[in-house]
Amino acid sequence: MTDTLTITRPDDWHLHLRDGKVLTDIVPHTARRFARAIVMPNLKPPVVTVDQAVAYRERILAAVPKDCSFEPLMTLYLTERTSAGDIRQASASGVVQAVKYYPAGATTNSDAGVTDLTRVYPVLEVMAEENLPLLVHGEVVDPQVDVFDREAVFIERVLLPLLQQIPGLRIVFEHITTAEAVTLVRDTPRRLGATITPQHLLMNRNALFKGGISPHHYCLPVLKRESHRKALVEAATSGDPRFFLGTDSAPHARSAKENGCGCAGMYSAHAAIELYAQVFEQAGALDRLEAFASFHGPDFYGLARNSDSITLQRSSWTVPEKLRFGDGELVPLAAGETLTWKLKS
Ligand code: DOR
Ligand code: ZN
Repeated sequence: MTDTLTITRPDDWHLHLRDGKVLTDIVPHTARRFARAIVMPNLKPPVVTVDQAVAYRERILAAVPKDCSFEPLMTLYLTERTSAGDIRQASASGVVQAVKYYPAGATTNSDAGVTDLTRVYPVLEVMAEENLPLLVHGEVVDPQVDVFDREAVFIERVLLPLLQQIPGLRIVFEHITTAEAVTLVRDTPRRLGATITPQHLLMNRNALFKGGISPHHYCLPVLKRESHRKALVEAATSGDPRFFLGTDSAPHARSAKENGCGCAGMYSAHAAIELYAQVFEQAGALDRLEAFASFHGPDFYGLARNSDSITLQRSSWTVPEKLRFGDGELVPLAAGETLTWKLKS
């Protein structure tokens, strides 16, 4: 049995860091594990210009501990007012790596998102020209569609037409949760990437109701049934370069989660690579963790792989029940549970 695992330092290709004084509470968790992270733009107000992305990046960097080197990779929030000029400026900036598409109303701070993707096809054509990837929150918001089917219906209604209409656009299907998404990624001849979160690899939808309703297991896309979880584990551990690590770590104060209308989002940055290691070990695929966590993402984005490494040790530790989050507190994923892999600092 392996007791230490040294891998090339990983990157997180989907991360929420929020803004303001909570940055100093949460950025260190990611910066101690990952070299880079794709930072989501769904702030209030959203990050829609390069200038906003540059300023946000500076605020994140100010929260990185002195002994870490961490590079935030910035994204712009796609709206129906995003222009070709915004895209060209983003592409030339060297700071913005991608553009995020939220269907309006699909999730946290998505109100400024896009109501009908075909309206922004001209802007997506420019992104294809500039080789700037589109990061997709893949769920329809049609109230007639069952919440658990939103991703599968999105594939049919939005993603397949998009793939056909703008063949040159590079797309990352973010936080995939279904066997249908895995099949789509595998069957698409050109490069469509997909990120997979630790929670969707570790849990199925029973976790939402175990012992009573559990707001800390609510995120979007929502957890799915066991057959989908198995398909995701199979994809992540398969060695297929189109699947890569993206935590979707999304902190919300305890008061916003334990609430009559609890927010969507799970916080995993405090133990992200450790949680993935657990999944890969359970699947008998620890030897494939490094490619999923450290190679497939930079290869997709056309960036260099990291040159340093991290070491995980087999050593039991208990995840804290709560973490500091500005003036409030945060309940992390796996709070109070024992994990088997520990980051060697
Ligand atoms: O659960 C989620 N939380 N899903 C998202 O798409 C957004 C995120 C957030 O920002 O809290
Ligand atoms: Zn997200």
